[in-house]
Amino acid sequence: MTRPAVLSRLLSGTPLIAPSMLKCDFANLHREVELLESAGAKLLHLDVMDGHFVPNLSYGAPVIKSLRAITSLPFDAHLMISDPGRYLDDFLNVGCDVLTIHIEAVPKPTDLLRRIRQQGACAGLALNPKTPAEAILPYIGDCDLVLVMSVEPGFGGQKFIPSALDKLRFLAPHVGKDRLLSVDGGIDLKTIGAAAAAGATEFVCGSSIFDIPDYRQAVHNLLTAAGNAAVSASSE
Ligand code: DX5
Ligand code: ZN
Repeated sequence: MTRPAVLSRLLSGTPLIAPSMLKCDFANLHREVELLESAGAKLLHLDVMDGHFVPNLSYGAPVIKSLRAITSLPFDAHLMISDPGRYLDDFLNVGCDVLTIHIEAVPKPTDLLRRIRQQGACAGLALNPKTPAEAILPYIGDCDLVLVMSVEPGFGGQKFIPSALDKLRFLAPHVGKDRLLSVDGGIDLKTIGAAAAAGATEFVCGSSIFDIPDYRQAVHNLLTAAGNAAVSASSE
């Protein structure tokens, strides 16, 4: 699919629940993807960590290539790596649909964001909890997705940092309706409503899906909570 086609598919599916493939059963990836597809997931969030930008390691392009062979769900790759430019082509070549880089890793990200788009993928820009929201304003025009981290990146299962809500509220009008505003970290049934009311349209969910035995029920409950909050916020 072309970048505009992927973007419009994703935008028309909001609110999006993006399962984060960090706490899944890596011995049964095929089964996990099938379960997520039948649970109604519309994309997969793939957390790539290099043990340098974040104090943890996860997986890279070869694993994503294997996943690409078994599903047509869009892949939203979150690159928590210090030198994303070096590996960009690898991730594009294995079929990532969205590539998100961190502004803390690439303080002047214009060239990389444009490279991602030129090669037909959606470009995302992420910011960590300690990075002020204003830092990404000059680059939003080169983005298809803005990702607000609501935990320090590196690990699943952390507690949601409430100041992420102020960032979402601040960024939402700048991001507008033609881009995704994603929130990542500590999103569960207690926090998703506030994030939706603050303007998020994509919700990255690790523990709140993978710690629940029935993924379909987990996705359904998260979607309901996000949808209800977004509706009541827009009618205020
Ligand atoms: C953290 C990752 C997240 C993480 C979310 O660095 O970017 O995607 O897996 O996990 P939960 O939902 O458990 O906070
Ligand atoms: Zn992530």
